[in-house]
Amino acid sequence: MQLTVNGKTHQVDVEDEMPLLWVLRDVLGITGPKYGCGVAMCGACTVHVGGEPVRSCSLPAADVKADITTIEGLGTPEAMHVVQKAWIKHQVAQCGYCQSGQMMSAAALLRDNPNPSDDDIDQTMSGNLCRCGTYPRIRAAIRTAARELKGRAT
Ligand code: FES
Ligand code: FES
Repeated sequence: MQLTVNGKTHQVDVEDEMPLLWVLRDVLGITGPKYGCGVAMCGACTVHVGGEPVRSCSLPAADVKADITTIEGLGTPEAMHVVQKAWIKHQVAQCGYCQSGQMMSAAALLRDNPNPSDDDIDQTMSGNLCRCGTYPRIRAAIRTAARELKGRAT
């Protein structure tokens, strides 16, 4: 099958039911998305498909019908996404394992709702678990990113 990831098209020879996460990590070597629970409960594997956040551990590769973006494609070191910049500013990561999924969910939240309330943030991010307990810094970083977006719009 053909998959476009971070703007690059790949031909991959995999079983239809292989989860997208396995294709990304084991076939394409794109290791930003992480394996946490494998059952769509933790968010560590979150990527965007057609701009929407999905749990790639539970999405069969054959069901992917749009372009995929992983944390590697969200921004570059030279042109970071506003979320990535805010994550660095707030030094959000501890062990880091959950953080690519957290940032992909946060980026999707801010695209749909550039000025989220704390409730909006908590509700959207509740599906992304962090065993290191970085939730207060995640929330602060999302607020910072939202402020930067607001500044750009004015
Ligand atoms: S590994 Fe996909 S949601 Fe946990
Ligand atoms: S930073 Fe360690 S699990 Fe979230």
